[in-house]
Amino acid sequence: MVSLSIWQLVRAVLLSTALTSAAEITSDTHFYGQSPPVYPSPPMTGTPSWAAANAKAVALVSQMTLEEKANITVGYTPRTGCSGETGTVPRLNWPGVCISDAGNGLRNTDFVNGWPSGIHVGASWNRNLAYQRALHMGGEFKTKGVHVALGPVVGPLGRVAQGGRNWEGFSNDPYLCGTLAGETVRGMQEAGVTAATKHYIANEQETNRNPFGDVEAFSANIDDKTLHELYLWPFANAVHAGAGSIMCSYNRVNNSYSCQNSKLLNGILKTELGFEGFVVSDWGAQHTGLSSATAGLDVAMPSSSFWGVDGGYLTQAVKNGSLAESRVTDMATRLVASWYQMGQDVGFPARGVGMPSIFYTPHPPVYARDPSSKQFLIDGALEGHVLVKNVNNALPLKKPKLLSIYGYDAPSPLEMNVGGLNDFIGGTWVYGYESVLGYIPFISGTAPPQIAFNGTIISGGGSGANSPAYISAPFDAIKEQAYQDDTSLFWDFMNVDPTVDTNTDACLVFINAFATEADDRAGLHDDYSDALIKNVASKCNNTIVTIHNAGIRLVDQWIEHPNITAVIFAHLPGQDSGRALIQLMYGQQSFSGKLPYTVAKNESAYTNGGKPSLPEGDYTLFPQSTFSEGVFIDYKYFDQKNIKPRYEFGFGLTYTTFSYSNLVIKKLDGVSTAPTPPPSPIIPGGIASLWDVVAQVTATITNTGNMTCSEVAQLYVRIPGGPLKQLRGFSKVGVPVGGTVTVEFDLMRRDLSTWDVASQGWVLQGGGYDLWVGASSRDLPLKGTLMI
Ligand SMILES: *[C@@H]1O[C@H](CO)[C@@H](O)[C@H](O)[C@H]1NC(C)=O
Ligand SMILES: *[C@@H]1O[C@H](CO)[C@@H](O)[C@H](O)[C@H]1NC(C)=O
Ligand SMILES: *[C@@H]1O[C@H](CO)[C@@H](O)[C@H](O)[C@H]1NC(C)=O
Ligand SMILES: *[C@@H]1O[C@H](CO)[C@@H](O)[C@H](O)[C@H]1NC(C)=O
Ligand SMILES: *[C@@H]1O[C@H](CO)[C@@H](O)[C@H](O)[C@H]1NC(C)=O
Ligand SMILES: *[C@@H]1O[C@H](CO)[C@@H](O)[C@H](O)[C@H]1NC(C)=O
Ligand SMILES: *[C@@H]1O[C@H](CO)[C@@H](O)[C@H](O)[C@H]1NC(C)=O
Ligand SMILES: *[C@@H]1O[C@H](CO)[C@@H](O)[C@H](O)[C@H]1NC(C)=O
Repeated sequence: MVSLSIWQLVRAVLLSTALTSAAEITSDTHFYGQSPPVYPSPPMTGTPSWAAANAKAVALVSQMTLEEKANITVGYTPRTGCSGETGTVPRLNWPGVCISDAGNGLRNTDFVNGWPSGIHVGASWNRNLAYQRALHMGGEFKTKGVHVALGPVVGPLGRVAQGGRNWEGFSNDPYLCGTLAGETVRGMQEAGVTAATKHYIANEQETNRNPFGDVEAFSANIDDKTLHELYLWPFANAVHAGAGSIMCSYNRVNNSYSCQNSKLLNGILKTELGFEGFVVSDWGAQHTGLSSATAGLDVAMPSSSFWGVDGGYLTQAVKNGSLAESRVTDMATRLVASWYQMGQDVGFPARGVGMPSIFYTPHPPVYARDPSSKQFLIDGALEGHVLVKNVNNALPLKKPKLLSIYGYDAPSPLEMNVGGLNDFIGGTWVYGYESVLGYIPFISGTAPPQIAFNGTIISGGGSGANSPAYISAPFDAIKEQAYQDDTSLFWDFMNVDPTVDTNTDACLVFINAFATEADDRAGLHDDYSDALIKNVASKCNNTIVTIHNAGIRLVDQWIEHPNITAVIFAHLPGQDSGRALIQLMYGQQSFSGKLPYTVAKNESAYTNGGKPSLPEGDYTLFPQSTFSEGVFIDYKYFDQKNIKPRYEFGFGLTYTTFSYSNLVIKKLDGVSTAPTPPPSPIIPGGIASLWDVVAQVTATITNTGNMTCSEVAQLYVRIPGGPLKQLRGFSKVGVPVGGTVTVEFDLMRRDLSTWDVASQGWVLQGGGYDLWVGASSRDLPLKGTLMI
């Protein structure tokens, strides 16, 4: 049974009305309304890495009645601050699980940290930092009795430049995103918390993400090859890392809602990728009862009118023969197995302990901040800053006599009479806490502003925001440094055309680009901030711009202005934002981040001008978003169309210079191009041999400048028949002045393979693969060829 009936009906109607519009629809050869049925839903297999947890889960679930099994597949109104709580089995003392937001820190509670957001982690290109962040963040979730963290985000991947949630994910390159997602899943789960990687799949825009009135959610129409080579890629990393949960998304894919799409859940996730954990719905993303159950949804959140408040309709459906009990057993087994797999059966804190649903309800304190997190908070903040322009030795600053500071993004939100950015409550954008003292409205209304005018941002908004313990704003840190250096300060945060003291050594301008869940951004640059920068630059010949950007922010209104001497993409650094920035600006640390996306000269350079798809034409009630560009998003698109970006993917300056040499390419012995080299079982992440290293590449990097700095070396590959180049390796290494370091890249079979639609498998082609190693996607001094 396919869950597309509405669309098929409408399609039939449209086809039968022989109008021009209908002709257009029929002329579209392959997309609409076609998500193939894949049944039955594969039960958890207990693959070796999950065997012990599976055995324990089978033993426990076999003692449950049908009612009890059905009861734990649905959410109950949380009695705590958990975002969701599953049903429990009191008779067997099974406590159920608490599930909470999100991937950048635990939200809506006290005594936790505000970590750098996904985009900031992406800009750091640092595997170990991603792992450490997740490990320490995961520890906070565990201390508060949260079993499942709703992160990391790998979808949206960033197809739509204006996407409201792109900042929650790491990068719009699937390799960078997938690698960091794998580290994040590993770190969180080593801390004992299940990572629910989301949103599966193609939740590439917020506009029409949910049905509203008569209008269905947008349908992401993706061909099979693009799905595998781009959008599925990072999910495979997460599953391979052992992900205990995957969240299905709000949107439709090929006109079938993601949480009832059997091809996606039964077929690709649970069969092809060998996923052993449970699929949880995004909040309210379930739209049917039997269809979602048979398509592979395991847990419905935050409650289920379709499966019944206690899962009772599932029970009835089994009893009247319309649903196999084995499916309900498998739902329960997958959930309980993830609980065992993370060791949550032993010594796990009570659900949501110290997290009342309303945070100011009196409650005993539960301190979740581990002192050892400090290092990773500051390192994480430091490494996600990207310096893109630095002329006339503008940076680092050297004990200036007078500094002038401008822009709404410089001060702490507290100084603008609000707390830390946090949440969206009841149709009003609100700032959360700097302390637990309270939420104060930011802007009333439903549409978010393009910029956050009331102080610096350390995160975007919505469920991916976090609850910082404090906020170090740029201005806070500047004041500290000024004290040490006897620097005088002048500041004006309110005026768009402020005055400049001609004796100033430099003018620091702080702007932001805000983004949030539930809305896409209104643009990629805003006139207010651009005017502020231009006005300051017209009066100050050493103007240094810092942008806290929740996504791509264009700079072409002013980037070539001769008085603009330095520009920093500061992203979303978490609570140590200002402290990190000032260490970088004063040269106590070097910049080491690189752009995890492409900065165009103009909006028009991006697919669809960077905008989301809108309901239009015959599809007003069934918005369609057809991914006709295939895998060609971001730098692959710029390469394909021969568009020169302002700043290319992978670009970023440091305070030193590096040279690259000695490219060595080695194919490992015995590599066969057979599609499925025997014996190759399916493990979490897909066919095991996809994860085998088939070639190794090394290169040396020499620090030819005057400061010890880290460099992100990048490896790009041209797969025969594929895009001009694709990122397939990166390595971040510290290189001392005058020193030389060898970087090594392991290429796995999957890194060189393409998805073959006809055989429904990955194929490693024979032939020559061009390889490049260098400092960015367009600065690739080393070139060679790998023969397979
Ligand atoms: C979506 O439709 C395309 C074109 O028919 C097909 O290749 C692909 O497998 C479908 N994917 C899903 C998940 O339905
Ligand atoms: C279902 O879960 C709820 C919520 O935890 C619990 O109160 C109830 O007793 C459970 N029902 C059964 C049949 O175990
Ligand atoms: C079986 O039970 C389900 C859940 O209550 C219901 O939706 C369905 O209509 C029932 N089917 C039959 C044949 O009674
Ligand atoms: C935020 O800034 C705007 C623009 O200056 C102002 O109108 C509004 O009152 C401020 N909000 C708060 C809560 O301070
Ligand atoms: C650069 O700044 C100086 C003041 O330092 C100003 O006189 C000059 O006009 C500015 N240049 C431009 C192009 O705005
Ligand atoms: C910038 O302007 C100051 C005076 O305001 C002047 O001393 C300095 O030389 C100028 N720098 C450049 C690079 O033009
Ligand atoms: C892109 O071009 C349009 C049309 O010329 C212009 O209005 C817009 O400001 C440009 N964008 C940027 C970032 O300069
Ligand atoms: C290193 O320092 C020397 C001497 O101060 C200077 O001439 C040179 O430009 C510097 N090199 C770099 C790459 O900064």
